Amino acid sequence: MDYIPVTIKGCSVQILEGKAVSVARRAKIAALSAEFKVKAGRPPGLAVILVGDDPASHVYVANKIKACHETGIRSTEQKLPTGTTAQHLREVIEELNADPLVDGILLQLPLPKHLKGDEAITWISPGKDADCLTPQNLGRLWSGRALTTPCTPWGVMVILEHYNIDVAGKNAVVIGRSNIVGKPMAHLLSQANATVTVCHSKTKDLREHTLRADIVVVAAGQPEFLGKGDFKKDGVVVDVGIHRKTLPNGKSKLCGDVRLKELEGIIRAGTPVPGGVGPMTITMLMENTVKLANGHL
Ligand code: GUN
Repeated sequence: MDYIPVTIKGCSVQILEGKAVSVARRAKIAALSAEFKVKAGRPPGLAVILVGDDPASHVYVANKIKACHETGIRSTEQKLPTGTTAQHLREVIEELNADPLVDGILLQLPLPKHLKGDEAITWISPGKDADCLTPQNLGRLWSGRALTTPCTPWGVMVILEHYNIDVAGKNAVVIGRSNIVGKPMAHLLSQANATVTVCHSKTKDLREHTLRADIVVVAAGQPEFLGKGDFKKDGVVVDVGIHRKTLPNGKSKLCGDVRLKELEGIIRAGTPVPGGVGPMTITMLMENTVKLANGHL
């Protein structure tokens, strides 16, 4: 697929359209899913667990269920109240671990404050870990024997590959060191032969690192945190952030960690928010589910 060079205020920046990459990839996943159905006599299955009433999580989960429909994956949804006990959540997960129609389990994070996400993840059977978040699967990933791949970092790699952005030998900076994005992102970039620096909230001079980087993946979790003056000429910027920002007129819109519009004439390519990394995260979740399903044949 050709990229669409989008002109921002008269200067061309290559917009890395995760949404378009996603559409093409979902069509391939739907074909793999149909193939599985022929072999197994049932579709691949994803169980989604959502605890509490975080509005953003409800939107993400609805998008995941919609993607299941698009790709021929059977989805089930367990919506649990905010006051759910750890014991009950564990029972729900263990029931899904034992369900032969469920190939992948996704526990939407964050959990309400009284529950520990890190602990709850360990209750998911590694063979059904659609997010690649269990300690076993992260260990497998580090040792090159992954059953699945963390969805957001994998989606970033697929976008870079799709647009022929060469990673080997490049200086890559990852901002953020979470288990879900930053750490596996650094690993995947390093596996693709980039020289990787991980920056975080205690990094002394962040700009010193970002200005030297050929590729910057920003997962800082801070709305519109970086912009003009932070990136190298002709660099590539991937924005993993997604935030809802209230405008002066009272309406709201989504924004990322990066002020992309300021980067005209500076960077070579960047991902938009929305429509960049977000759709890819969901697409890779579908691909992980089909992979797990094939492992259950
Ligand atoms: N919350 C925000 N992103 C994600 C994700 O990729 N997986 C899960 N389980 N929870 C999330």
